Amino acid sequence: MSQDLGDALAEVEAIFETQLLSDFPAVNELCRHVERYRGKRLRPTLVLLSGLAASGADRERGLSHRHRVLGAVVEMIHMATLVHDDVLDEADVRRRGATVNRLRGNETAVMLGDYLISNAFHLCSSLDDPGINLELGSVTNTVCEGELLQLHHRDDLSLDEATCIEIVRRKTAALVAGACRLGGRLAGADAERERALAAFGEATGIAFQIQDDLLDLAGDAEVVGKTLGRDLEKGKLTLPSVLHLASSGPERREAMLDAIARRDADALRRELAEHGGVEIARTRAAAFIFEAKEHLAMLPESPARDLLASLAEAVIHRNH
Ligand code: IPE
Ligand code: IPE
Ligand code: MG
Ligand code: MG
Repeated sequence: MSQDLGDALAEVEAIFETQLLSDFPAVNELCRHVERYRGKRLRPTLVLLSGLAASGADRERGLSHRHRVLGAVVEMIHMATLVHDDVLDEADVRRRGATVNRLRGNETAVMLGDYLISNAFHLCSSLDDPGINLELGSVTNTVCEGELLQLHHRDDLSLDEATCIEIVRRKTAALVAGACRLGGRLAGADAERERALAAFGEATGIAFQIQDDLLDLAGDAEVVGKTLGRDLEKGKLTLPSVLHLASSGPERREAMLDAIARRDADALRRELAEHGGVEIARTRAAAFIFEAKEHLAMLPESPARDLLASLAEAVIHRNH
């Protein structure tokens, strides 16, 4: 099965590269730059596994060429958000390579992000299924709302847990949920299985972002492969800090608020590590993964379903 999955992912990449080909060598050169640095390919993997799990198939039966196309579409949408996010975050490193904004400046990065999102929907239209375009259009609307909501709450030290989760649900989990939902739909899943896959994806996506936020606070930049510490520098309070603030007494709150105001990453990291913030966030992420796996019970037993469960578990134990 992992061989099948690896082969299918290689096809996803080939579709991705072909779609981005342009008449202009300068555009191709830029696209080659972002293609050279591979990420974890979580979203296309979820499209493929959801297709397999929805049909209960243990091999390729549940997968079609359409799944590979959809895998390329979701990865392209994801990539567009990363290229734009690196402009917002003024980040220098992504996937162990230089960001486009670092290499070519913000204007080129903004346009390349647009080129990626435009190509994603162009490629999606080749599936000739308006329902898929509609769903993914709704997902990208939601992602933008999540990012806008986060910007709205910049430097908001009273950001509460519910709003924080809502930001994460929108900016990250919506696309993960969409990948699972549509992977299932393309394999002929009924409404109930589609809903279960979407709910699995949403809970996994939230846990994924919590782990990303922990890595931004306390990860090893060499291992993570991207610029870290930008959440604090950009005044974006993330769940570890929000939960810690909510559960602390006046003294610890004071220390936290002081570290945040001074943009002191070391002090913030120490505070969260020594006084429970990291632990509470880990526990919260684990609870989302527990919930995600419960949704999988709606699907027939299969190796693909087991792989989805393992993948969800890996999300909160990763260090990159
Ligand atoms: C990074 O996503 C952006 C977030 C949603 C946290 P990934 O960690 O999946 O990035 P790649 O694709 O592996 O580089
Ligand atoms: C952005 O979140 C997530 C997106 C939807 C692009 P982050 O700002 O935490 O992503 P990274 O850490 O830069 O990858
Ligand atoms: Mg970022
Ligand atoms: Mg991050």
